[in-house]
Amino acid sequence: MKILITGGAGFIGGNFIHYMLNKYNDYSFVCLDALTYAGNMETIETLLNKVNFKFVKGNICDKDLVFNLFEKEQFDIVVNFAAESHVDRSIENPRIFLESNILGVQVLMDACLKYKVKRYHQVSTDEVYGDLPLERIDLFFTEDSPIKTSSPYSASKASADLLVLAYSKTFNLPMTISRCSNNYGPYHFPEKLIPLMINKALNNEQLPVYGNGSNVRDWLYVEDHCSAIDLIIHKGNIGEIYNIGGHNEKSNLDVVKIILKLLNKDESLISYVKDRPGHDLRYAIDPTKILRLGWEPKHNFETGIQETIKWNLEHDDWIRRVQSGEYLKWMERQYKW
Ligand code: NAD
Ligand code: DAU
Repeated sequence: MKILITGGAGFIGGNFIHYMLNKYNDYSFVCLDALTYAGNMETIETLLNKVNFKFVKGNICDKDLVFNLFEKEQFDIVVNFAAESHVDRSIENPRIFLESNILGVQVLMDACLKYKVKRYHQVSTDEVYGDLPLERIDLFFTEDSPIKTSSPYSASKASADLLVLAYSKTFNLPMTISRCSNNYGPYHFPEKLIPLMINKALNNEQLPVYGNGSNVRDWLYVEDHCSAIDLIIHKGNIGEIYNIGGHNEKSNLDVVKIILKLLNKDESLISYVKDRPGHDLRYAIDPTKILRLGWEPKHNFETGIQETIKWNLEHDDWIRRVQSGEYLKWMERQYKW
């Protein structure tokens, strides 16, 4: 079995490569990644000497590069993680989100059709469903919830999902889609809430909470996302969408307070800042369908956040190195103190 993993130098794709290489000795894997600001070779560099792993630097929008790679490697499965992933950046500059997250998907699917790939898996997000009211804790996103996007990021991901479904119906592309809730864990780029707050707390800097901090996210430890995708590409039904989430809803303020407590830091570090425009109130996944397929998450938020803090403490070199020029410029633009 030969699997192409795109976006594998990023947070979830990198974790997925580690997970799959560890589990399947007899498979071979190719990672295609453009190494944008969010891609870090350090995340996968310990794997480069493995005979069944290869890294290729390239953009999924580059048709010639992608088609040549498919011709050469003859993949059985393609799992597409490659995307611009940060909501705040999509508000500042939507264009690149439309290119990578929609047009890149078209290129990959055209290659899958031409080279008769047995399965194209699109890694999507719960953000395609928009948000749920804070006070209606009885409501959850199911696979049949309407698409109702809020940000250029989520609109680009929803567009890609619709395109994947269209390729399935019109061209018989053998596809699956997964829509996961917020991930956290090792190799999480420190522009996203949890690693950003851990990092700032460790440096005794102010922790920027948008609005009043009441927005709720449904947190899943990244390894559990990896195991769900592994299950879907092996056992999931062609043409189906699967939601992924483990019922770990927390308000942003609660998450920040938990981090401060675990790091033994004072809550006076919390700083309430301007809210995100179009800020989604609450995400919450109904995982019934993926549970029926046989998935079982191993972590809850209490164990996962401790693992994550431990990882961050033990990898301050990784964190320091990913905070390069581009990252510093973004932090300055986004958080003008
Ligand atoms: P990330 O930003 O950490 O990593 C994205 C990776 O994709 C980077 O390595 C980057 O270099 C690469 N990339 C970006 N554009 C590319 C292009 N045009 N061609 C090739 N490579 C490109 O993102 P992440 O958080 O790991 O998210 C991975 C996927 O999972 C995304 O599709 C995202 O929408 C989805 N997702 C993320 C979460 C989450 O909580 N982070 C939850 C659900 C779904
Ligand atoms: O739900 C899945 C999605 O989760 C993925 O599709 C996205 O790729 C991923 O980035 C994530 O999106 P969010 O917008 O939910 O994640 P983020 O970490 O940016 O923000 C989480 C919450 O924390 C959100 O309510 C905004 C808030 N926040 C974020 C930052 C960066 C703050 O209060 N302060 C901050 O500085």
